[in-house]
Amino acid sequence: MADILKAKFMEDMTEIISNMYRLGWDERNGGNVSYMLSEDMLALYSDSLKATRTFQTGFYTPSLSGKYFLVTGSGKYFRNVRREPEDCLGIIKIEEDGKRASLLWGYSGGGRCTSELPAHLMSHAARLEVDPENRVVMHCHPTNTLAMNYVHPLDEREVTRTLWQMCTECIVVFPDGVGVLPWMLCGTNSIGEATALKMKEFRAVIWGMHGIYCSGKTLDETFGLVETIEKAAQIYMLTAHLPRINTIKDEEMKSLAEFFGVEYRLDFLNL
Ligand code: 13P
Ligand code: ZN
Repeated sequence: MADILKAKFMEDMTEIISNMYRLGWDERNGGNVSYMLSEDMLALYSDSLKATRTFQTGFYTPSLSGKYFLVTGSGKYFRNVRREPEDCLGIIKIEEDGKRASLLWGYSGGGRCTSELPAHLMSHAARLEVDPENRVVMHCHPTNTLAMNYVHPLDEREVTRTLWQMCTECIVVFPDGVGVLPWMLCGTNSIGEATALKMKEFRAVIWGMHGIYCSGKTLDETFGLVETIEKAAQIYMLTAHLPRINTIKDEEMKSLAEFFGVEYRLDFLNL
């Protein structure tokens, strides 16, 4: 029997989560990650997968019926995931009715899926509509991105343009910009629905004064998106209180986007 703890998807997940913790994005149990797994990826480990519990998700995601997700558990400390993956992570399958899910593996200490399951699953459904290759949704509380929320207008055009100005590569890495939601009660279907709506337009969504949601085709790509936004926010926070004497001009950002051939939000530039 193949050891599921040695599966590439499991090693990739625990490694990425350790890096999220190392970078200070996930204090205590802050943050959550969901990774859609295919039947092929799980085929070798079918002996380890047994439905031990079926539960109501509390929302309806019919397009995800039959899909499998590796998901962080609620209240689990990111610091511990690598040492205790079986306790901190779970594999769920969305049932045919689109309203229930079964736990097939994990949460060995009796845990359950992240309280942000609505935002994760609704975001997966939304992203898959615009990008059938999307596999990952990642939420965390990166320090500088969060700090910026307190001193910068929470307007998605303004936030995006400021972040794009902070590093030359930003407009190339997130040409679609960053969506912004106001402060909302977390863990609810409402914040899940609002996030999913933004995810149709943006791969990155800031939750005002809470953190960020990012999505992508792979764990690496999604991590890289958070990392780039956080780096830009760090440069903003290091310079926001100083006189600004240089900037990357809007025409320069336009030429970057065009040179690298990315589809970008021209309406977010002052041209
Ligand atoms: P969970 O521990 O339930 O995943 O919640 C953490 C969090 O960041 C809530 O937004
Ligand atoms: Zn959070």
